[in-house]
Amino acid sequence: MKRIRFLSLLAFVWILVFSAGCAAGREDMSMPPSTMEPASPSGIVMSDLMIQSFIIAGVVFVIVESLLLVAVFRHRHRGVEPLKASELPPQTEGHNLLESAWTIAPAIVLAIVFYLSIIAYQAVEDVPLFANTGQSQDEPVNIRVVGYQFWWEFEYPELGISTANEYHVPVNTIVTLSIESRDVIHSYWVPRLGRKVDGIPGHVNHTWFKALEPGEYVGECAELCGEQHAHMRFKVIVDSPEDFQKWVAAQQAPAPEMTGAAAAGEEIFLQGACRACHTINGTEANGRAGPDLTHIGSRSTIAGGMMDNTAENMAKWLSDPQRIKPGNKMPNLGLTDDQINSLVKFMQNLK
Ligand code: CUA
Repeated sequence: MKRIRFLSLLAFVWILVFSAGCAAGREDMSMPPSTMEPASPSGIVMSDLMIQSFIIAGVVFVIVESLLLVAVFRHRHRGVEPLKASELPPQTEGHNLLESAWTIAPAIVLAIVFYLSIIAYQAVEDVPLFANTGQSQDEPVNIRVVGYQFWWEFEYPELGISTANEYHVPVNTIVTLSIESRDVIHSYWVPRLGRKVDGIPGHVNHTWFKALEPGEYVGECAELCGEQHAHMRFKVIVDSPEDFQKWVAAQQAPAPEMTGAAAAGEEIFLQGACRACHTINGTEANGRAGPDLTHIGSRSTIAGGMMDNTAENMAKWLSDPQRIKPGNKMPNLGLTDDQINSLVKFMQNLK
């Protein structure tokens, strides 16, 4: 009877411990993206490895803690008097079999985890060769990712496109990324699509992914890189092949002719300090310190994913970038309200 009571107590403890980690299905998209909801082959490999490791660790934990609880409850001292030497349980110091067992058992467990990790590492690292996989005859999309304090540049060398803070790829297509930095160490990370890869000044790192579902995938900088590290987010937008082609065509087009207030904004842009840091294809602005703005109007966010790309937010940003995002590289240009309004019109027309 006592034994059954003890075993049910033990079972109850484990149910409590393991249910503490469970949460109901997540509906809220504002929650941080999770590596446990992978959307790429390498993401699935990493998520599986995490689950395997957790199960192994869980089994070890239950065995060790159960033995501990059994020892504590079965062999607890019931009296008030201290134990005499003759009442002590048999002492097992220097027990060869026990010592060997608890040395070999963890070594085997660690060897299994090591083996699983190596297999997963290879699957994540090796870019599948198209000729060998037969999965896709499409050419891979190659993208150069450059981290800056505090935003991301995405360049498609073969397509002649340069964009910032969000980029598009076609679904079910291999995307290769070469990742660099222009200033300090950043770390590129899209939790649902793959592993973290550092962007290091003077060094190029490589990785790849293949998105299995169209949609938007949030990424962030995963290496403390300065005051605005937390505001260095970006989006990967996974399109159908047709939508991706449309996006490419739109991005390759030069900036359109401007009229009215937008034309006034363009003039301010080209005559002021803006052009020293920003590029707009088809104009004389070819600065490289800040994001390419040729199609800024087509992007969903500004300021490194900090704000939605609305007229109101753009005006706020232009009026004092340092107040919105202290420590970023864009100075306060002392623009008047009229100048800001014209510039906002111009930006919005750069679709
Ligand atoms: Cu870039 Cu943190």
